[in-house]
Amino acid sequence: MNKLLTVATFFFFIITSCSSESNNDVTNLPNNNVTYKNTIKAIIDTNCLNCHSNPPTNGAPMSLTTYQNVKEAVENRDLIGRVENGTMPPSGNNLTTAQVQAIKDWETNGFVD
Ligand code: HEC
Repeated sequence: MNKLLTVATFFFFIITSCSSESNNDVTNLPNNNVTYKNTIKAIIDTNCLNCHSNPPTNGAPMSLTTYQNVKEAVENRDLIGRVENGTMPPSGNNLTTAQVQAIKDWETNGFVD
C-alpha cells in the first residue's frame, strides 16, 4: 500500500513538472504570428521612412521600403543592433521593446512575408 502511494506521488510530480515546463516553453517561443505584412512593415513605415525612403534622403545609405530591403538590412546592416541601441532612428522616439522583439521574432521565424 505504501509502495503504491510512493509510486502514485512520483507520477504526480512527473506529470505536474512536465506540464509546468511545457508552459514555460510556450512563453519562451517566438511569436509565430509576426510577418512582414502584419507587423514589420508598419513599424518601419512609421519610424524609418522619413529617411530610408526610395530614394533615401537625409544621408541614409539605403531604402527600407520593401520586404527585401528590410530583410537584407537585418541580415547585413545590423538593423536590430541599431534599433536596440537607439542609434536608429537618430532622432525622435526609439522603438519600443515590443517592436524590437517583433523584429527579432521575425528574423528567428525565417522572415515570413
Ligand atoms: C532622420 C533620418 C533617419 C531615420 C528616421 C532613420 N535612419 Fe537609419 N540611417 C540614417 C542615416 C543618415 C544613416 C547613415 C549613418 C549611420 O550609419 O549612422 C542610417 C543608417 C542606418 C543603418 C546602417 C546602414 C549601414 O549600412 O551601416 C541601419 C541598419 C538603419 N539606418 C536602420 C534604420 C531603421 C530600422 C530606422 C527606423 C527604426 C531608421 N534607420 C531610421 C538616417 C535615418
